[in-house]
Amino acid sequence: MSLLELTDVTRSVRLPDERLLHILQGVTVAVDAGEHVAIVGRSGTGKSTLLNILGLLDAPTSGQYLLEGVPIGTLSNGARTKRRGRDFGFVFQQFNLLPGRTALENVSAPLLYARGRQFWSRTRLAAEMLERVGLGDRVDTLPDKLSGGEQQRVAIARALVRGPRVILADEPTGALDVETGGEVMDLLDEIASQTGAALVTITHDLAVAARAERQYRLADGILVPISLDTTAEWVGDVPLVADRSSHTERRLPDAGVRA
Ligand SMILES: Nc1ncnc2c1ncn2[C@@H]1O[C@H](COP(=O)(O)OP(=O)(O)O)[C@@H](O)[C@H]1O
Ligand SMILES: [Mg+2]
Repeated sequence: MSLLELTDVTRSVRLPDERLLHILQGVTVAVDAGEHVAIVGRSGTGKSTLLNILGLLDAPTSGQYLLEGVPIGTLSNGARTKRRGRDFGFVFQQFNLLPGRTALENVSAPLLYARGRQFWSRTRLAAEMLERVGLGDRVDTLPDKLSGGEQQRVAIARALVRGPRVILADEPTGALDVETGGEVMDLLDEIASQTGAALVTITHDLAVAARAERQYRLADGILVPISLDTTAEWVGDVPLVADRSSHTERRLPDAGVRA
């Protein structure tokens, strides 16, 4: 049994003019504990929508999502929220730290929703996580006094402080220079490996994607496995040719608007 398993998942939204926007058109993918998976794709192809579905922030329009074999569609809202907080850690491009709160307060915030030892030890656990990401001397610093790379490391500490089974990173290096981005990915890879968490990274950066064990491209609302080490053709920074040995690509319009 995989940790996460999507089968033919679609996501459509109703636009103000009543048309349906088909963002995801049948995504099938499984991720095991401890795996590192990268997803590339042009802007607007539904990458964040897919990550939000994986992280229980959004729900599929159709298809099935099994989380450790449990169909998440059968869970109550309360149960879904609980699993999201306990099992998932999120890292975003823009860090999304609480302004006016110290690094320590930002990292301990998710533990306010935990129970028992995690709740009562939240300050110590947050301090340990900040130490772990190399910011042990910045616990009392406010986000606007930290560099971009440091802010992202605080965000990583916050994502990991509850010991999630899955880390979902949406363009984690998108706001950082190449070198700082590399350091941030080193940290994510390292902590994910040490804790046995699955890591799903969305990225425009093929060097970042190449670090993962498996790569996919999201295009036309469909997820296709790719291999970054072949002599693929590229459009901008995105590979054009999917791994033909394992899949035949379906040609559909990107996030097509249909009546
Ligand atoms: N709730 C929504 N309502 C209307 N359009 C949406 C909504 N969510 C996403 N979209 C549209 O769906 C497409 C995919 O969005 P997104 O998942 O953010 O793509 P990506 O992360 O790949 O850039 C975009 O065109 C976006 O504008
Ligand atoms: Mg996005």
